Amino acid sequence: MEITIKQGSLTEIECDVVVVNLFEGIKTPAGATGAVNSALDNIISEYVIEKDGFKGKFGDTYVIPTYGKIPANKVLLVGLGKAEEFDLNKLRHLSSKVIKKCKSFLKAKKVCSILHGAAGMPAFDCAKMIAEGTILGAYDFSKYKSKKEDDSKGIEEFQIVELRYEIIEEVKKGIETGTIIAESTNFARDMVNEPADYMTPSKIAEIALSIDGIETKIIEKDEAQALGMEAYLAVAKGSAEPPKFIHMKYIPSEIPVKKIAIVGKGVTFDSGGLDIKPASSMVSMKDDMSGAAAVSAVMKAVSQLKPNVEVHAIIAATENMPGSRAYKPGDILKAMNGKTIEIDNTDAEGRLTLADALSYAVKLEVQEIVDVATLTGACLVALGYMASGVMGNNQELINKLIESADKGGERLWQLPLYDEYMEGLKSDIADFKNSGSRYAGASTAGCFLKEFIEETHWAHIDIAGPAYIDKEIREMSKGATGVGVRTLLNYILSA
Ligand code: BES
Ligand code: MN
Ligand code: ZN
Repeated sequence: MEITIKQGSLTEIECDVVVVNLFEGIKTPAGATGAVNSALDNIISEYVIEKDGFKGKFGDTYVIPTYGKIPANKVLLVGLGKAEEFDLNKLRHLSSKVIKKCKSFLKAKKVCSILHGAAGMPAFDCAKMIAEGTILGAYDFSKYKSKKEDDSKGIEEFQIVELRYEIIEEVKKGIETGTIIAESTNFARDMVNEPADYMTPSKIAEIALSIDGIETKIIEKDEAQALGMEAYLAVAKGSAEPPKFIHMKYIPSEIPVKKIAIVGKGVTFDSGGLDIKPASSMVSMKDDMSGAAAVSAVMKAVSQLKPNVEVHAIIAATENMPGSRAYKPGDILKAMNGKTIEIDNTDAEGRLTLADALSYAVKLEVQEIVDVATLTGACLVALGYMASGVMGNNQELINKLIESADKGGERLWQLPLYDEYMEGLKSDIADFKNSGSRYAGASTAGCFLKEFIEETHWAHIDIAGPAYIDKEIREMSKGATGVGVRTLLNYILSA
């Protein structure tokens, strides 16, 4: 599906469905909805609203056949809700609802839409939200279904039709940016939805190498060993899949305003290791590379959006398996930064892979490091699927990330990193253990990670909840969500 812009009137355009809108409480629509209403002999105002009681509640829809009065086949009238409550995040959500309706119910091929918006909302932002919502809403992962649920080819073109010449260029730019952001989010969703047997560390490395405009270095096991990455390599020991430590780099053409590193947890399958997970917890553990998928997708988008920021992406990719060489509870490992870790639980593997990934990132001498990880079940218990936890050593960076998430339609909720949490990780024979007290698991894991950060401003985002959802939430269908992509991109673009 391609999203395009056309200067013109919705009353003159040939397509399967024309999308127009209505705010709650409006009885006689103006603008493009008004023009369509007039062309249809006031059927919207006199019949749909007046007689049939359509109120324009957010997301409500009404399908009107046009009987040849305009070239379009049908009109889809969609409610925007109360004008004072309408914002850009709602517009993204709305656009996902519209595309789903056009795709599965109306079986449209070409859809033309009004540029939804409200007073004071810039055309660029509106177009961007429509592009994002439409592309995210149209997503499905059906490659393994031998019989497609609906065998139509789906929507081929989604066109925004706008009368005002002077905003066409802005709309076009908004569509372009929104398309890049949403397509890269879908790219991350694809990576996570793939089975672990396919999305191995080697596959993630191959994907990283295939991104144009990005320099990628793969550090193989031997070199990782030479670099002292014992914590990360311990996790890989029980698996037949070779570990791949991935370093992607985007260098802007001009002197960058900032250098940052994004680090993604890349455990392609988390069986728990010898401290094996029960079946009900293991079943979704192909999603334990969601952080890696997010940073890969961000690099793909960055290579197209070309911000003036130097961006490094780091993934310590491995499986966590209980093979005969598997690392064991009681083992002691030395991380790349020299700190020693006693293994208390082989299922607390993410923080071990991140210990070395973060130590490596620190050496890059960037100004800020942000890691994204499906790190703890505790974070899922605390916040559910609705928000990721964020914590770190610099409040300004955390605030910036929270704001970037809000703008992107994702949610971050800050959790504390009190020093006392480290007491639960005290070890008698090493610097600390990799797990301990049952309580405040997300914060304890965050405190553990902090041990591998020196002075660099750093934030940790625990995406264990939102990475993979069991039912639709706003523009996201169930399954992988690509969470983190929009937050990180907004953060990078606002630098
Ligand atoms: N990958 C899991 C965390 C997770 C749980 C992600 C549920 C998504 C959904 C992580 O490696 C893990 O197993 N964490 C343990 C840590 C514990 C052993 C200290 C957990 O949260 O139970
Ligand atoms: Mn685990
Ligand atoms: Zn894990």
